Amino acid sequence: MNLERTAIRELFLLSAPPAGESCVKGWVRTVRRSKEVMFVELNDGSCFASLQLVLDPGRFDGSQLDGISTGACLSAVGPLVASPAAGQTWELSVESIELLGGADATYPLQKKRHSFEYLRSIAHLRPRSNTFGAVFRMRSALSFAVHSFFHERGFVYVQTPIVTASDCEGAGEIFRVTTLDPATPPKSDGKVDFSRDFFGQQTGLTVSGQLEGELFATAFSDIYTFGPTFRAENSNTSRHASEFWMIEPEMAFTDLAGDCRLAEDFLRYLTGYALEHCADDLAFFNQRIEKGLIDKLDALANATFETMSYTEAVSRLEKSGRDFEFPVSWGSDLQSEHERYLTEELVGGPLFVVDYPRDIKAFYMRQNDDGRTVAAMDLLVPRVGEIIGGSQREERLDRLDARMAELGMDPDPLWWYRDIRRWGSCPHAGFGLGFERFLMYVTGMENIRDVIPFPRTPGHAEF
Ligand code: 4AD
Ligand code: MG
Repeated sequence: MNLERTAIRELFLLSAPPAGESCVKGWVRTVRRSKEVMFVELNDGSCFASLQLVLDPGRFDGSQLDGISTGACLSAVGPLVASPAAGQTWELSVESIELLGGADATYPLQKKRHSFEYLRSIAHLRPRSNTFGAVFRMRSALSFAVHSFFHERGFVYVQTPIVTASDCEGAGEIFRVTTLDPATPPKSDGKVDFSRDFFGQQTGLTVSGQLEGELFATAFSDIYTFGPTFRAENSNTSRHASEFWMIEPEMAFTDLAGDCRLAEDFLRYLTGYALEHCADDLAFFNQRIEKGLIDKLDALANATFETMSYTEAVSRLEKSGRDFEFPVSWGSDLQSEHERYLTEELVGGPLFVVDYPRDIKAFYMRQNDDGRTVAAMDLLVPRVGEIIGGSQREERLDRLDARMAELGMDPDPLWWYRDIRRWGSCPHAGFGLGFERFLMYVTGMENIRDVIPFPRTPGHAEF
């Protein structure tokens, strides 16, 4: 008989067993055998739950059942029946079984709990574990939610380039892209001559699609990007990756307050989507990874997102009486310990910090009238710290040029960016949500490496 495979997820959605037989395929999680009966937990990754297969060993010849062990891949056919066991609606009463790929006793994923670090070292098997199955199903569902949020609001999706010549954030953390031979690069005046490189200039992997996004926002009004982003910062923290995904909306005719509103709506929408569509995976995270996670996400639907100026935040930090590792003073960047104090202890929820000193922010942010701050915002959330960074953009060409000159930036390579301000400039604003930071927030996972399929961090690019 040639039955088509049904995903286990679909079987669990049924309100009654289908007539006739079903065919399932997947990987064995556990096997329990006795003389009378054999139970096999089969998982195909389509949902959190495994399907229990029940076999009567007497009906098969021994050699057929030999290879059925943890990690093996198999196909099983039989009627779905109501399960007498607690916690599962159906089980499959196996009529025929076929071993598709055996797994011997060296299979590394055994029933005991493995550390996330160890699982990272076996990235080819990691997604078969409970935790990572749940992480990557949620990552997929929430990528879809990102697109539906913007699609429902009429935002145009723009694919910005991965190879670029501009360092949007100006932090000099670009991975170079070149076809020049490092041993014998062409030189002129003793320096490497990049005019003879592939693109005729120095290029690198993008640190942000924002500058290109702004161009499209001043044509389509509301746009967003969603793609990989690369930063060669040598910071080995649990919240930084060298390759991460960022969502960057950009809106014409919008100021900083409108930018914050969109960020708030976006976060609520994604969280609501997770609660509605990822209930089984979330139940696992709630039980095993972060106690109270579901309550926290539920509360976000009605939470007020507070707003505080940077100046006020610094004064609250100074008055906190805390002994921070990095001292705080007006003009210095907030460190992760400061951000966490503000969001976790001071307000106990999401917090927008706005109007940062201009000297610690990028050149494109709109200058405030006080002459020392810019219309920037960071959204801080408990456990993660900064999850979103954004700003209103400097739409006045003279101000932009003056700022670039102050920073010693050459305006020529950014002529196209400056041109937006020359013809039909308008107030506009946007932000970037680090997709992995959001996944950490929504799953409770504590290390950014554990929410990316193949993490890239300093020293790590295998797999
Ligand atoms: O604050 P950032 O650097 O802002 C920008 O890139 C702007 N161009 C965004 C915009 O206004 N369109 O980065 C935005 C977000 C951060 O808040 C953080 O969530 C995430 O990107 N992020 C990282 N995530 C993981 N690893 C890293 N190394 C990250 N750097 C930033
Ligand atoms: Mg930032």
